[in-house]
Amino acid sequence: MIPSFLARLAVAGLLISNVLADSEFDWETLTATASLNWTSCYTGFECSLLEVPLDYSADKGNASIAVVRYPSTAPKSEYLGPILFNPGGPGGSGVTTIVALGAEFAEIFGNQFDIVGFDPRGVSFSKPAVSFFKTAAERQSWTAPDLDFRYPSLNASAGVIPNVWGQFQLIGQLAEERDTDDVLQYITTDNVARDMLRISQAFGYEKLQYWGVSYGSLLGATFATLFPNNVGRIAIDGIMDWEAWYSSNLTGSLQDTDKTLQTFFDGCVAAGPSACAFYAPSSAEIAANLAALTESIRAQPFPVKTDISHGLVDFTFFRNYIFAALYSPYNAFAGFAQGLAALASGNATGVYAANQAPEFECDCSVDRAPFTENIYESLIATSCGDGPQLNDSISDLRAFYERQTELSSFADIWGLWRIHCTGWKVHRPGRFQGPVGGNTSFPLLVIGNTADPVTPLAWAHKASAAFPGSVVLTQDTPGHMSLVAPSLCTHGALRAYFQNGTLPAAGTVCEPDASAVLFPGAPNATANTSTTNAPKTLLATAADGKLLDAVRKIGNVVRPIAAMGRPL
Ligand SMILES: *[C@@H]1O[C@H](CO)[C@@H](O)[C@H](O)[C@H]1NC(C)=O
Ligand SMILES: *[C@@H]1O[C@H](CO)[C@@H](O)[C@H](O)[C@H]1NC(C)=O
Ligand SMILES: *[C@@H]1O[C@H](CO)[C@@H](O)[C@H](O)[C@H]1NC(C)=O
Ligand SMILES: *[C@@H]1O[C@H](CO)[C@@H](O)[C@H](O)[C@H]1NC(C)=O
Ligand SMILES: *[C@@H]1O[C@H](CO)[C@@H](O)[C@H](O)[C@H]1NC(C)=O
Ligand SMILES: *[C@@H]1O[C@H](CO)[C@@H](O)[C@H](O)[C@H]1NC(C)=O
Ligand SMILES: *[C@@H]1O[C@H](CO)[C@@H](O)[C@H](O)[C@H]1NC(C)=O
Ligand SMILES: *[C@@H]1O[C@H](CO)[C@@H](O)[C@H](O)[C@H]1NC(C)=O
Ligand SMILES: *[C@@H]1O[C@H](CO)[C@@H](O)[C@H](O)[C@H]1NC(C)=O
Ligand SMILES: *[C@@H]1O[C@H](CO)[C@@H](O)[C@H](O)[C@H]1NC(C)=O
Repeated sequence: MIPSFLARLAVAGLLISNVLADSEFDWETLTATASLNWTSCYTGFECSLLEVPLDYSADKGNASIAVVRYPSTAPKSEYLGPILFNPGGPGGSGVTTIVALGAEFAEIFGNQFDIVGFDPRGVSFSKPAVSFFKTAAERQSWTAPDLDFRYPSLNASAGVIPNVWGQFQLIGQLAEERDTDDVLQYITTDNVARDMLRISQAFGYEKLQYWGVSYGSLLGATFATLFPNNVGRIAIDGIMDWEAWYSSNLTGSLQDTDKTLQTFFDGCVAAGPSACAFYAPSSAEIAANLAALTESIRAQPFPVKTDISHGLVDFTFFRNYIFAALYSPYNAFAGFAQGLAALASGNATGVYAANQAPEFECDCSVDRAPFTENIYESLIATSCGDGPQLNDSISDLRAFYERQTELSSFADIWGLWRIHCTGWKVHRPGRFQGPVGGNTSFPLLVIGNTADPVTPLAWAHKASAAFPGSVVLTQDTPGHMSLVAPSLCTHGALRAYFQNGTLPAAGTVCEPDASAVLFPGAPNATANTSTTNAPKTLLATAADGKLLDAVRKIGNVVRPIAAMGRPL
């Protein structure tokens, strides 16, 4: 079964959902071993199941971690070891990501490295996999592509907060009741960090080499805190704050969200009416037009029927539509403006159709748990299991939401992170809950964007301040993580960090490549008009072109994982 999240990616024409179908590999044929025992898999990859302790402080049996590598092709004398990658979520499959993109990662880092993807414990092909649902049908009822159910705007009506509270009481009860093997308490970020050390050691490397984006940044910072002397290279990108994460209070995420939306308004004005379909002569007018459209959709949603599905473009759909565009401005803004213009003219077909999930198909009589694509479950289990036991009442949740609305107009979308965890009951005593920081055996590279809708630049500086010697590289782009736009400056620095251990100068601000424009086709669309003094990233050599292209392809797959299947 393809869950709605992947179905949406498939609709978007992205690679990731096809990987498994196109080159089946049956992980069940592997036996977990204490050392890496490679078997060829997919095409051009090697797979192994690594045995690790389920509980690192007592003998509770083993977990097995699915590890895939895109092997180094350099001569042995030049080999530089493994680089592990985590695509965020939590719950994103590193295996699926690397199987889709191994060659692109090797293009960035060089063929001296093994490019390594792993499924964090709880996720996909690793065992145990988090599973709350008994059957595909039951799972479908919770993960249906109905945004009103999965990602309701808390501002859609007064009933949403109580309803979602109730829903996550049930999820919490189901998860606890069906955790008959007592594994959920071990699905936490600290244990994933411990597993990463085991993976690195199994390669013969005491020091970890790792790139983590979005939630993967929190995982990297947690590793560096637990194992400061085992840091070889750790680059973290799109920084999630430890304090926010480990207290299940992501309010601070929204610091730069409205600034990101402002880049849409300003960019649209600058691009002009030929390139921005939702153009008006000033940012304030575009903002007012967007607000009017929002009001009108609240008053009267668009019912849409297509050949394969039907649904509503309603207030919640629309708020998610706006929010999702902020993750990927370079890829999304122009189409987003067209979508807004179509909605403003009364036509919702295109916006709906571009985001509809294919018809649900499954053999609902079959018990298929655990499910190998389980980002929904593993996101909840990991994020709530990392946090404190919450006891928020509905009025606490209302107060929490009100507090967030003081900071951002996107509290209605983001406040759910808190509610997710209010019914969660499984917390392992003694788990790591921060603080992060310490003197590491090699300095961290910390990357943040100037206007990131969910991981503000301030969090990059906060993380860097906790790790002496680390350097913040700022990429001057709106959107989530550096993967929003290729940049020879940023991604060249990433390559140099892994290859040579060089860190960019403190205060480095990187512009995106000239090919990255918010509104292609605008008279001023090229980076020619850039006013910053950072070096221009003009395409100098074919090698540069390959680097940029690799980053672009990785971004196309990894960005939607971060946006969690919201309409883009
Ligand atoms: C767990 O793994 C260790 C090391 O590989 C092994 O010695 C032990 O037998 C395994 N335990 C179980 C219950 O499989
Ligand atoms: C390594 O894997 C192969 C098959 O993939 C299996 O036949 C062999 O027994 C494994 N070795 C160990 C030590 O488990
Ligand atoms: C959540 O964090 C914000 C700051 O980011 C703070 O103002 C608020 O009081 C916190 N809420 C709770 C319930 O801890
Ligand atoms: C293009 O840039 C020039 C100079 O930066 C500016 O004067 C002009 O207004 C811009 N064009 C549009 C359509 O905004
Ligand atoms: C709720 O939505 C309305 C638009 O219908 C908007 O005017 C209002 O500011 C929103 N409230 C919050 C707290 O975001
Ligand atoms: C509405 O938009 C769709 C897709 O963008 C288009 O195919 C259709 O012709 C439009 N309908 C009308 C009535 O303009
Ligand atoms: C929630 O309640 C439990 C049990 O009463 C308590 O241990 C815990 O500290 C409370 N959590 C918070 C965040 O207050
Ligand atoms: C790092 O080491 C220095 C010098 O030994 C020490 O003063 C400092 O407190 C350490 N910082 C952290 C965050 O551990
Ligand atoms: C790494 O250093 C070598 C030798 O100084 C140099 O040739 C190479 O270009 C550097 N690589 C990067 C990515 O900076
Ligand atoms: C800069 O602008 C000029 C003229 O508008 C154009 O010919 C040139 O290709 C642009 N350069 C880049 C790097 O886009």
